Amino acid sequence: MDHFAYKNGEYYAEDVAISDIAKKIGTAFYCYSSATLEHHYKVFASQFADIDAKVCFAVKSNDNLAVLATFAKLGAWADVVSGGEIRKVRKAGIKSANIVFSGVGKTREEMEYALDEGIFQFNVESEAELLLLNDVAISKGKKAPIAIRVNPDVDPKTHAKISTGQKESKFGVAMSHAIPVYKLADSLAGIDVQGVSVHIGSQLTTLEPFAQAFLHLRNFVNELRAENIKITTLDLGGGLGIPYGKEQPPLPEFYAEIAKRETKDLGVTLLFEPGRVLVGNAGILVSKVLYIKRGENRIFVIADAAMNDLIRPTLYDAYHEIIPVIPPAGDVPTEMVDVVGPVCETGDIFAEQRLMKLPQAGDLIAFRSAGAYGAVMAGTYNARPLIAEVMVKGDKFSVIRPRQTYDELLGRDRLPEWIAK
Ligand code: LLP
Repeated sequence: MDHFAYKNGEYYAEDVAISDIAKKIGTAFYCYSSATLEHHYKVFASQFADIDAKVCFAVKSNDNLAVLATFAKLGAWADVVSGGEIRKVRKAGIKSANIVFSGVGKTREEMEYALDEGIFQFNVESEAELLLLNDVAISKGKKAPIAIRVNPDVDPKTHAKISTGQKESKFGVAMSHAIPVYKLADSLAGIDVQGVSVHIGSQLTTLEPFAQAFLHLRNFVNELRAENIKITTLDLGGGLGIPYGKEQPPLPEFYAEIAKRETKDLGVTLLFEPGRVLVGNAGILVSKVLYIKRGENRIFVIADAAMNDLIRPTLYDAYHEIIPVIPPAGDVPTEMVDVVGPVCETGDIFAEQRLMKLPQAGDLIAFRSAGAYGAVMAGTYNARPLIAEVMVKGDKFSVIRPRQTYDELLGRDRLPEWIAK
């Protein structure tokens, strides 16, 4: 359920007409609905209200400070993957003690910073990382609280580029080889073993892979305990999918049922790292049609947003619903079109051969379900400034990241002295 809908013949975010935002700040822009963010968080978190569980928002899915602060106010914890993300969540008001740090390539500097901050848990992804973390912790006279991310070799049945829990994946330590790594960890003076973590992939649309992974995890915890290794936390990762088009991912209540079923009696604190399911459908990308171009055998709708603003269709062939902000009145032909951006790449396509009512130049269109992995993955390819982000609450909206100016864009480069002279 989201708070984007047609009212009075045009598309609204809560009580704000999208066309009004466009008039005030121009296009393209991301627009988030705070009621939707809050609703999604509460629906997810309420599934676990009866057990000891923490919802750690996966910051990588949307790192805007206003989004993070919205979740912080609701009591969210954070799952981060870099020193930059730690800084962001701290600024947004999430306590260090409520941060879980994942990622295969943590640097010494990031470890030092996270240890100084006093984060809740490092999710360690390799033996080499474990040894470095131990060194860093000892040099600071501290103990690093850790879980080891184990790879259960389960096929999440999602896009190959967002599958993370199989043998071929760079993530985690194979579950079958993880006991010795735990024993090593347990013997290290700078390490405090507290948990196990797993994350098998993103945009999962069935429960079966979760059920398999959680069951493996349950057995694994029992094996560790048989080796006298103390486990008090279990991080089940993120990955629950959302409907972009016709897919019908499981509801959070069924996901929660499985998580609870597989972990009950273990006496652990459960951690979850949801990203997409909290923010995906709480954001849209709004763009203006620049031109309609009739090619020899294709009709191109050329938008002012491009792959540098929303790269998901280019990178994963991802589907985003594209709708008119103000549906055209009267008889408009439905045509098979390609919706493309202005970037000089054939891959700059949002939708290929999609049936839609043919828009006209100047019309606004909205890409739905763009709240997750949209703005965060944007870049400035083709010297295109980063687009604005706004958040709506009731009948108000606020620019939560202004459009990048050309001065900001150009100001990043420096001429070497042999040219500048
Ligand atoms: N935890 C870990 C360790 C992760 O690697 C991820 C996502 C999450 C949690 C959150 O997963 P979620 O609940 O959002 O599925 N850019 C891709 C998605 C990449 C996901 C990376 N890891 C996309 O646009 O589909």
